[in-house]
Amino acid sequence: MAAPPPRTARPRPPIGIDRYALVGHPVQHSWSPFIHGMFAKQTGRDLQYRLIDAAPDDFERVVRQFFAEGGKGLNVTVPHKQAAAALVDELTPRAARAGAVNTIAWAATGGLLGDNTDGIGLVADLRDNIRTDIAGQRILVLGAGGATRGVLGPLLDAKPALLCVANRTEERATELAARFADTGPIVGCRYDAIPAGPYDLIVNATSASLTGEVPALPDHCMGPDTIAYDMAYAKEPTAFIRHATSRGVRRAYLGWGMLVEQAAEAYRVWRGTRPQTAQVLGLLAAGAPGRP
Ligand code: ATR
Repeated sequence: MAAPPPRTARPRPPIGIDRYALVGHPVQHSWSPFIHGMFAKQTGRDLQYRLIDAAPDDFERVVRQFFAEGGKGLNVTVPHKQAAAALVDELTPRAARAGAVNTIAWAATGGLLGDNTDGIGLVADLRDNIRTDIAGQRILVLGAGGATRGVLGPLLDAKPALLCVANRTEERATELAARFADTGPIVGCRYDAIPAGPYDLIVNATSASLTGEVPALPDHCMGPDTIAYDMAYAKEPTAFIRHATSRGVRRAYLGWGMLVEQAAEAYRVWRGTRPQTAQVLGLLAAGAPGRP
């Protein structure tokens, strides 16, 4: 007997419409359908992008069924990024280095290809939207979980003078630093052992924003010229952004730009052209009229 369809399955779209989806747990608040819908409009094409909520023990079945039914590409989010890396047949070099996958596409060989566009999305936002040049900068990344793994490679590729990964649990930071040591100048430590600041750029990659907390960052890390970046995105400033502003930081950003830029890169992986991001970013900044 055939396996039952995923709980979130919807009727098949008419033949000819390319199908994409985001798989996560939870996913209901995702902006990805809106963003990819805008990208498709821009290129004059039609596509379907839906949300699939899959618990960890259902993840592999959902992915295999999606592609068996002719799906073109998946995005993968928390908590499945490492499981996705284990499931696919091939990994791009950047996904292999991250040990995590946020984009699945068909490989030329007919299997599934796992890619990771999170890091390139962050770097694109910093370079093209925020207009800061990472080369030669001293960068501090807070947290040593999945979000950090995804961005360390592309950040180091941009040739900072130093990249410090600080984490509450020290071993996770030192392990990540060791894993990326051959890519560039990286150190891992606890918050109270962070080398002297101020840093040019501080990226909050912890999940502390979700609970309204701020990592225990020593005061020397931030100065007025520090750029504070929270990979979390929300309608209101996160606790980290409020903390940075209260410390006199003049430039503080939520992760909306990274969200849109990683999506544009995933779109390119699937469809070969990278959409323009400025219009979508403008809509999100204006409160995203038309959000699904
Ligand atoms: P994700 O995939 O979102 O990165 P994760 O792998 O669970 O999720 O990692 C969460 C990160 O946020 C970790 O670095 C965690 O620190 P620990 O490794 O010490 O647990 C960090 N984190 C979560 N809440 C935090 C808080 N209140 N203060 C500081 N760090 C926090």
